[in-house]
Amino acid sequence: MLEVIIETHSLTKNYGPHVALDSIDLKIRSGATGLLGPNGAGKSTLIKTLLGLIQLTSGDGSVLGYNIKTEGDMIRQRIGYMPEYDCLTPEMNAVDQVKYCGELTGMNTSSAHRRAHEVLEYVGLMEARTRQIETYSTGMAQATKLACAIVHDPQLVICDEPTNGLDTKARSFMLDTLFQVVKQGGRSILMSSHMMDDVERVCERMLMIHKGKLIAQGKIEDLKAIDREIEISVWGGADKMETGLKDAGMKPRRSGRVMRVVRIDETTYDRVLEIAAKEGVQIRRMEDYEPSLEDLFLVIMERLGYTVKTSSDLLQTQPTARAVAPAPSRPGGEF
Ligand SMILES: Nc1ncnc2c1ncn2[C@@H]1O[C@H](COP(=O)(O)OP(=O)(O)OP(=O)(O)O)[C@@H](O)[C@H]1O
Ligand SMILES: [Mg+2]
Repeated sequence: MLEVIIETHSLTKNYGPHVALDSIDLKIRSGATGLLGPNGAGKSTLIKTLLGLIQLTSGDGSVLGYNIKTEGDMIRQRIGYMPEYDCLTPEMNAVDQVKYCGELTGMNTSSAHRRAHEVLEYVGLMEARTRQIETYSTGMAQATKLACAIVHDPQLVICDEPTNGLDTKARSFMLDTLFQVVKQGGRSILMSSHMMDDVERVCERMLMIHKGKLIAQGKIEDLKAIDREIEISVWGGADKMETGLKDAGMKPRRSGRVMRVVRIDETTYDRVLEIAAKEGVQIRRMEDYEPSLEDLFLVIMERLGYTVKTSSDLLQTQPTARAVAPAPSRPGGEF
């Protein structure tokens, strides 16, 4: 059993009349956890409450065993925080900036200096380390923020939208680096994002919040297993195939010549083939459909009664083509 590093009970944060976090009960274990949610979901607010940076309205919680209401300073010494906002000093160079961050956590000057070089190499900034930060690209600035967060070798790193504003190459490098932070250092990460792919690249577990409410938490693998489906592509007779599947009680979801049915077990393939033979329909392709986190998000939102057409309605991700409508509600999952 992995150690619980973050726990909250009925955590609530109001900004005036606006409920930004609505009675959140969390249990985060060591390892890499993604905090997913669309813009305005409450991700940054949750992170700031965990760091003891903002006061709760009600509820309580702990990070690494320290109380978030009363021991925020202890928490901040022990974790590395990469905020979403710009926190760097433009006229400093990266070495001085990272060294300064190290000193703020209590490191002496010489070890902070040595560690600054080590972590800057780690985040790919060795060559540019003596340049002023104001000359940096967004990717370089984000990498500097990460270096600041890990300079004191914290047990837990909390990153708020680490890939924000990055192009494909810089984003990929950042995600690889975060993955290594966990894998090589045996550290834990909590990273927020509104990009499903980012979380999937780095994390084993995830939390999903929407409008201040926790809507799912658990292992990505388990949450995704909720939707195991088979995707079938037919040639001619798509209507007949759909009817045949429906008659067999398989509840197909269809878009043109592509349809998906729930994969009950390995015999589902045979049943589909039998139906195709009976209906005289040619199957061009049939394979397990690997749901993306985006699919999962849509399923969860539907279960909660939201009407969601595409992810871009709710998430500011790159729009991805969805050939098939969202999956119907299904029980299961860890909520
Ligand atoms: N200081 C504040 N005063 C008033 N409302 C706030 C404040 N900070 C956040 N909010 C509101 O609380 C909600 C949650 O904001 P938060 O920044 O936590 O969302 P987020 O999930 O981090 O969004 P994003 O993906 O855009 O960073 C939003 O509706 C936001 O407008
Ligand atoms: Mg935010």
